[in-house]
Amino acid sequence: MSGKETRSGRVVRTLKVDLGDRSYPVELGVDTLAGAGKAIARCAPSSRAFVVTVPPVSRRYSGVLQRSLRVAGYRVHRVIVPDGDASKNPRQLSKLWDELIRCGADRSTPVVALGGGMVGDLAGFAAASYLRGVPFIQVPTTILAMVDASIGGKVAVNLPQGKNLVGAFYQPRLVWIDTGTLRSLPVRERAAGFAEIIKSAAIWDAAFFERLEREAERLMDLDPKVLIPTLERACAIKAEVVSQDEREAGLRQLLNFGHTVGHAIEKLGRYRGLLHGEAVAVGMLIAARKSEELGLSPAGTAERIRSLALRFGLPSELPNHPRNAYLAALKVDKKMSDSKIRFVVLRGIGRAETVPLTPREVLSASRCR
Ligand SMILES: NC(=O)c1ccc[n+]([C@@H]2O[C@H](COP(=O)([O-])OP(=O)(O)OC[C@H]3O[C@@H](n4cnc5c(N)ncnc54)[C@H](O)[C@@H]3O)[C@@H](O)[C@H]2O)c1
Ligand SMILES: [Zn+2]
Repeated sequence: MSGKETRSGRVVRTLKVDLGDRSYPVELGVDTLAGAGKAIARCAPSSRAFVVTVPPVSRRYSGVLQRSLRVAGYRVHRVIVPDGDASKNPRQLSKLWDELIRCGADRSTPVVALGGGMVGDLAGFAAASYLRGVPFIQVPTTILAMVDASIGGKVAVNLPQGKNLVGAFYQPRLVWIDTGTLRSLPVRERAAGFAEIIKSAAIWDAAFFERLEREAERLMDLDPKVLIPTLERACAIKAEVVSQDEREAGLRQLLNFGHTVGHAIEKLGRYRGLLHGEAVAVGMLIAARKSEELGLSPAGTAERIRSLALRFGLPSELPNHPRNAYLAALKVDKKMSDSKIRFVVLRGIGRAETVPLTPREVLSASRCR
């Protein structure tokens, strides 16, 4: 890590995702978008740059980003895809390939994802596949994308049969985080991003969790003094886990804390109910209660997660679907092997492990119809 201040327009923190010759920096700052072009030119020199974004983000930020790319010597091609996770599909991917060909993109042309995790996953997969891989740059504009989706190299599109079914591991060359972009992020999306930060703290770093407990309200207000170090720590945890287990052989599974039940909630709500982070918040609570029930976590662990999540305005109740529907949704979780789910439990705040559980066992500590 380097840098101390949180002055506007400056990169104040740099951290590295350590993956040998595919290592890359994560640059964090406030109102730094105008500096992105120069940084991109350093790691992906080319005559053209290809920017992928969505309308709500494009409207506010693509002007500044495009200008900075032009100043850095690029001819810029921008593609705006419709907003929403439904755009993360093979048809949009194929449209991006068409556009890349149309604008004459070659092996050196960077694909720049400006937006949330949806844009990052879609543009990232286009970058991974076009000409067998062109440079990929992440400019995340949601909290979730900053601390989670943009780091680690998972890129994918959804199929009608399920989410993220076709994708790749493809690392970006650079992650450029301008926290100034978060000012326009809807409050619910903000909270959903903090759910992933609570998750990282819960599985990995008890002191970080305590910091979140001290600073929840200031974080929701995006006070840079506490926001930057918090994003930095959350990014560092993700980077650390990914560096040790890039392809999800073991350790990386711990990042799925709260996600088994979270995915079931999203699915039963047909992806129009709770946001991903909100569903994960409820899932964490259920997993924490289960951890207590199994005698792995001290009493009070789940309550700490619940009261912290509530302060971010996150939900704590399992949406009202029949127990059987939950059981069925849990059964098709892709992380399931031999009818047992590798369920992430806590050994108290700051330490996690997986235990094999059946869907019925997962839900035994929860109230649902
Ligand atoms: N690759 C990974 O490791 C990974 C990890 C977690 C999630 N994901 C994926 O990420 C996606 C979810 O990401 P997300 O939560 O960022 O959702 P998203 O990209 O759909 O963005 C959420 C909403 O916020 C808007 N938005 C984004 N930035 C904004 C800004 N600065 N101001 C105003 N509005 C803004 C978007 O237009 C959208 O409406 C899912 O597709 C999920 O599968 C991937
Ligand atoms: Zn998640």
